[in-house]
Amino acid sequence: MNQARFRHFGEAQHDDWALIDNRFRDYVADAPRRVLGHLQRLAGDHHGYPVDRYEHSLQTATRALRDGADEEMIVCALLHDIGDELAPANHAEIAAAILEPFVDPLNAWMIRHHELFQGYHYRHFFGQDPHVREQYRDHPAYERTVRFCDHWDQTSFDPDYDTLPLEHFMPMVERVLGRTPHGGLPDPLPEEALR
Ligand SMILES: [Fe+2]
Repeated sequence: MNQARFRHFGEAQHDDWALIDNRFRDYVADAPRRVLGHLQRLAGDHHGYPVDRYEHSLQTATRALRDGADEEMIVCALLHDIGDELAPANHAEIAAAILEPFVDPLNAWMIRHHELFQGYHYRHFFGQDPHVREQYRDHPAYERTVRFCDHWDQTSFDPDYDTLPLEHFMPMVERVLGRTPHGGLPDPLPEEALR
């Protein structure tokens, strides 16, 4: 048996759930590969920008790396715009949700708010207040979010920059997203369930 046989949960037996639980753990372990696969989908469509979102993502991570950021921050930089394709109206939420179980809560906050902080560099072109991020000046993640946007994110639209390839970052993504998530996973089903 490699698939559960129930048609609704009321029919499910221990061995059904043991099988699903086992597959779930493999599926969780494989998540970094799927996340990177999705990141690669950002290649091609540049939305009018000088570089596409894939190049922008790699470039943001490269600048963070060359600036001496730690591995977790580099992974945040690499993935910060991964939600652009699926949620263009609130893309930061997607990256924050992917990263949040594995990173410092302040880094998750940084990613969740990077779009608002990044607006410092362009909101005035749209008749909006570029200083909205100042409402968070006393937040413990304020300085790192300013640094993220000002030094790495808003600067990473240069088609001539010497950007590192995805392969350079793959082991970092595997390590960070391979951590035990905050709060852990449910315990495996007990052996006696494997009847
Ligand atoms: Fe960005």
